[in-house]
Amino acid sequence: MSERAEEGLSALLHETRTFPPPEDLAKSANAQPGIYAEADADRLAFWEGQANRLTWVEPWSQVLQWDMPFAKWFVGGRLNVSVNCVDRHVDAGLGERVAFHWEGEPGDTRTITYADLQKAVCQAANALTELGVRTGDKVAVYMPMIPETVVAMLACARLGAPHTVVFGGFSSDALRGRILDCDAHFVITADGGYRRGAPSALKPAVDDALAGCPDVRKVLVVQRTGQEVAWDDGRDVWWHDVVPRQSEYHEAEAFDAEHPLYIMYTSGTTAKPKGILHTSGGYLTHVAATHNLVFDLKPGRDVFWTAADIGWVTGHSYIVYGPLANGTTSVMYEGTPDTPARDRWWQLVEKYKVTILYTAPTTIRTFMKWGEDLPAQHDLSSLRLLGSVGEPINPEAWIWYRTHIGGGRCPIVDTWWQTETGGIMITPLPGVTATKPGAAMTPFPGIGVDVIDDEGRSVHNDEGGYLVLTEPWPGMLRGIYGDEERYRETYWSRFSGRYFAGDGAKRDQDGDLWLLGRVDDVMNISGHRISTTEVEHALVSHPAVAEAAVVGADDATTGQAIVAFVTVKGHTDTEGEAGAALVKELREHVAKEIGPIAKPRQIMLTPELPKTRSGKIMRRLLRDVADDRPLGDVTTLLDPTVVNAIKDHMAEGGGEDKE
Ligand code: WTA
Repeated sequence: MSERAEEGLSALLHETRTFPPPEDLAKSANAQPGIYAEADADRLAFWEGQANRLTWVEPWSQVLQWDMPFAKWFVGGRLNVSVNCVDRHVDAGLGERVAFHWEGEPGDTRTITYADLQKAVCQAANALTELGVRTGDKVAVYMPMIPETVVAMLACARLGAPHTVVFGGFSSDALRGRILDCDAHFVITADGGYRRGAPSALKPAVDDALAGCPDVRKVLVVQRTGQEVAWDDGRDVWWHDVVPRQSEYHEAEAFDAEHPLYIMYTSGTTAKPKGILHTSGGYLTHVAATHNLVFDLKPGRDVFWTAADIGWVTGHSYIVYGPLANGTTSVMYEGTPDTPARDRWWQLVEKYKVTILYTAPTTIRTFMKWGEDLPAQHDLSSLRLLGSVGEPINPEAWIWYRTHIGGGRCPIVDTWWQTETGGIMITPLPGVTATKPGAAMTPFPGIGVDVIDDEGRSVHNDEGGYLVLTEPWPGMLRGIYGDEERYRETYWSRFSGRYFAGDGAKRDQDGDLWLLGRVDDVMNISGHRISTTEVEHALVSHPAVAEAAVVGADDATTGQAIVAFVTVKGHTDTEGEAGAALVKELREHVAKEIGPIAKPRQIMLTPELPKTRSGKIMRRLLRDVADDRPLGDVTTLLDPTVVNAIKDHMAEGGGEDKE
């Protein structure tokens, strides 16, 4: 790489702004500066201390048994996850504390206290038992964002019946594949849920899926929308027919710390999703500890809102298990942020006096696109802490989030983790860390992280490489369900003894960590490695750009060439000459920000980027478009027409570099 380009790359990531923690937050923060040294001195003792925050029926005899790559945490310990999330708070006299302020998309609301939750979970556990669910049986959950979804998960956990929650936006094929892969014999679903102002059906997808699942015996159906549903009398059971008539008492059995809690499917590099297996004691310890320390959670005072779907790991760990283990009051919202209007979230923050908000950069950039006057119309002064998760957050979005949502006073925790890690791994601590816009900063106490090169050597400060985890951690996946070989191969084969996360990262001058996106998103241009994220950062730092996705396209001369897909803000003119001028300007802008080597070969101005239903930009599809290949799987796309529109525009020669 030319010296100029090298300089440009490091300049982009050399964010000089830092934001120290607010003094009063620092003074009373759950995590104080000494926590890093404490965990460094004795990692296992640190985690043992965190495990002791939970209620165990039997203590463990050994903190960790590590037979690489298989870990057992809190060996011999026994506990019930559901009791830890619900009953013990009621037993402590906190039954009247609100567990969830739930808001349906149409505006209906429910307030659920810990005492309410206990009753509901016990009744649901009794109902599942009546339907034949036994410890060890797998239960598929395909639900909208309603309280019964949480109740269903906790009832499964109470019975030791691992759940596999399938995001309600997935197709019937995807649901069938997951049911078959984990051999679930029971399904919990609803007639539908509300999305974008209308009922959106779920039951028909279950019916479709089950046509290919002969072993599913019972389907428990919550009535949410009142839609017409097809009914199989021998198989389908209404929730309201069986759950409310059950006893409100259920004696919970304690399970081994390593008893399976859930399986969550996530996509890998092949077409077949991986069933990521999580177990009980270590997982709950990890999510409770991180939720308490990263979000500085003050139970009884804070109103916490993870604005994600329960169908993703973020929802499992930071709507359900972490917050409930800590006796948190949470907000849960059913619908989309733009229904009935684009300020719905800010209405909710104002209404429930939310103090901590946790969301994804893609959402933040959407709000940027919609304009800061929307949050400005609401009183957001209850907020005291903001979180980000799911993708690298560009400094512009970080600053916008801080300024327009956090009122310039709330610290931002940019948290890196994965479905596989179960809980947060790299993050600032809000009372300790002076944050840098765009950096996830440092490993959580008790977590071992390294950035290494191709040969497995640690990189120096100011260098990039592969992110690996160097020590087993309590919330780690215990495997890929039914595929031990794939588990070893995917995570443990590339660098011996270390977990390969699949992400690129960079240590800055101070040794702080910046995530650079998946390494499969790293491009190689004329032998120079450039991260798609870095080019995206450069593009979105241009005032006209709302969002950008960059992919490496095949190029006969340079190996790969950079192709960028860009959505613009508000009223920017993208037609004809104005569009061409903007494309030219953007190429120059990237050249200026990073160096001429990073100039995109093509920039496509497009009204939307193709995204998965969880909000991730589908770069694989964009690569297909850029390479003019037939389109791969689009079933997880939020709006499949977007890609075709981009493809057509591309075929007309849009955005070509004519120089
Ligand atoms: C990415 C979501 C940068 C990363 C919890 C990881 C992030 C993948 C961040 C896991 C972050 C998540 N900064 N990148 N703060 N958080 N990622 O399994 O590429 O849906 O490997 O888990 O998201 O996504 P998953």
